[in-house]
Amino acid sequence: MSFNTIEANRRAGRFADREQLWLFGYGSLIYKAGFDYLERRPASITGWVRRFWQGSHDHRGTPDAPGRVATLVRAPGETCLGMAYRVTPAIFEHLDHREKNGYLRFATEMTFADGTTDEGLVYIATEDNAAFAGPAPVAEIARRIAASQGPSGPNRDYLLNLAAALRELGATDAHVFALEAELRALEDG
Ligand code: SIN
Repeated sequence: MSFNTIEANRRAGRFADREQLWLFGYGSLIYKAGFDYLERRPASITGWVRRFWQGSHDHRGTPDAPGRVATLVRAPGETCLGMAYRVTPAIFEHLDHREKNGYLRFATEMTFADGTTDEGLVYIATEDNAAFAGPAPVAEIARRIAASQGPSGPNRDYLLNLAAALRELGATDAHVFALEAELRALEDG
């Protein structure tokens, strides 16, 4: 699979025929929308966990020195808390461009705080994408995040903004909070 997923997402056209749909965000899409939406609600999806296993060559790193950002990894029985946005397909052009470094549109069921569910869309960078960085010890990932920056800013800001947004949502995410603690220790040391 190529680095750039814009064409693959356009060809698959998932959800393009809908008038409105829910988009589930679990990374930067939680704390920085950057697109028009009709409604925003905390939501969760099951069977997935958030991991900083995706390389970022275009936002929080460069092709020579990629950063690390969040993707979702299959984990039966686990729940991932995030933010759902009710949107129109008009935003796909913007989102496909923003998420072009390996993320594909997938359908998912999501559950809202009131217990209701709906089907919607999530961008996931699966392990077969060319920018996938994969698992590594927390200290190693934190060092990479501390050292990286790209056109969207320092990689550390992505991690710290996400950790703060998750805390605000009341989410417990051991992986993200461990990375945050490790990063702060590095910066304080
Ligand atoms: C997401 O936030 O849902 C996708 C990954 C990202 O843009 O950080």
